Amino acid sequence: MEMIREYADWFYLIGAVLFILTLRGLSGPKTAIAGNRYGMIAMAIAVVTTFFVAENPVVWMIIGAMVLGAIVGIARARTVPMTQMPETVALMHSLVGLAAVLIAVAAIIHNNKLIELGPDLLAANGVNFHEMSRVHLFELFVGCFVGAITFTASVFAYGKLAAKKWAKTISGAWVKPVQAIIFIAMLGFGIHFFLTGNMTSFWAMTGLALAFGWVWIAPVGGGDMPVVVSLLNSFSGWAAAGIGFTLENNMLIVAGSLVGSSGAILSYIMCKAMNRSIINVLFGGVMGGAAAPTAGAGEQVQRNHRSGSADDAGFLMSNADSVVIVPGYGMAQGRAQNAVKELANLLKEQGVTVRFAIHPVAGRMPGHMNVLLAEADVPYEDILEMDEINSDFPATDVVLVIGANDVVNPAAKDDPTSPIYGMPILEAHKARTIMVIKRSMATGYAGLDNDLFYNDKTMMIFGDAKKVVEDMTKAINGTGH
Ligand code: TAP
Repeated sequence: MEMIREYADWFYLIGAVLFILTLRGLSGPKTAIAGNRYGMIAMAIAVVTTFFVAENPVVWMIIGAMVLGAIVGIARARTVPMTQMPETVALMHSLVGLAAVLIAVAAIIHNNKLIELGPDLLAANGVNFHEMSRVHLFELFVGCFVGAITFTASVFAYGKLAAKKWAKTISGAWVKPVQAIIFIAMLGFGIHFFLTGNMTSFWAMTGLALAFGWVWIAPVGGGDMPVVVSLLNSFSGWAAAGIGFTLENNMLIVAGSLVGSSGAILSYIMCKAMNRSIINVLFGGVMGGAAAPTAGAGEQVQRNHRSGSADDAGFLMSNADSVVIVPGYGMAQGRAQNAVKELANLLKEQGVTVRFAIHPVAGRMPGHMNVLLAEADVPYEDILEMDEINSDFPATDVVLVIGANDVVNPAAKDDPTSPIYGMPILEAHKARTIMVIKRSMATGYAGLDNDLFYNDKTMMIFGDAKKVVEDMTKAINGTGH
């Protein structure tokens, strides 16, 4: 125990390096498991070291909280379906925000007790009260308001993603002025608290920050929540780093900064892949849901598409040399990943080259498709990123699009009037034959019609992704190729 105390900074340093290796590992599917293990070891080092470094810890409370947390965490991790991952992540961020607020409150109460002791007694014990209170007040001010915003904003994001009734999207001309008033008032009280240490201002700032988190995120549409969640991930990291200063815990400062910066980078990458700016996502109002017009006002264009059966599609694929599968949100929604893997295996057995093409924002969260395909045990070497596969489409016999829409919409390349113009896409339209599995001609997340579905080379196969893919497998088995 003494040894841990003495070498605490060294243990923290090892933990920090392991956290960096964690992020490195999590950047690729092959190294992700090792990355996760580094993270677990780093977290264990952080928790154990902090436990022994703490002065006069209330052991039963700490152990009790850890056991309770572990029970809830293990139960949730075992039962959560992949489709509910985004809202689970949002809920976890809310806890980080809440922890930051509670720690700030605890630190303030502790600080006030010191004040009660009086400057003479503090000075006698070698505590420079003036300096301590100034620096602490600033850290508490920042850590607390960022934590409070993260808390309510994440709770709202959770509610929205889990389709809870109370998480209503708000809209109207009043929203932006109200946001601005709450934000300015929050900053005003925070600065007053920082300058004077006034407790009423502290509580007012915290209350307003909690309110701001809600009114800030409530106008953002459900479809944009993944970007919001990623941004809140970043916020929770900065809140933790701020509180790390308050607690004088180097590990928390490093880990918080890593989460803060990686979350910010991820939000940027997501926005870039969606061809939108973060400002547009956060303050541009609702995106998704409403079908965007495909023709001028009042003008109705009837367009023809070709549809086929799972049997036809199975036959065509089993006679192809190369098939590229493009999964999208519909594969996740229909939980079709295992059926898709069966189909891919069967085609491979028949000598067809089968590969998977992954768009960076396919689905509803970063890496959504990679996670599902990994869960179904699809070999990593068969999974290619957009930049790796795009040049192969013209030489591909069949592209099988499973529940993807926006990420294969050619309008992003050739229609400058389209809202997604400029967004990088998988160039499925360049393949010799395109097959699209979806339940209807409905639009996807961006609410846009998709020319790919009306292409002469395209065959629509309507139905639920899992059912259609299973029917394709049965058809291929039946033909005995
Ligand atoms: P979408 O464009 O949303 O299209 C998914 C399609 O799947 C829909 O058109 C839907 O058509 C079909 N579908 C839904 N359930 C199905 C089921 N059970 N069986 C078969 N088909 C089903 O998805 P995408 O192509 O993956 O593109 C992702 C979109 O989400 C992009 O616009 C992206 O910008 C956005 N987004 C992504 C992220 C991240 S990080 N991944 C974050 C925020 C936003 P039917 O209703 O006709 O079946």
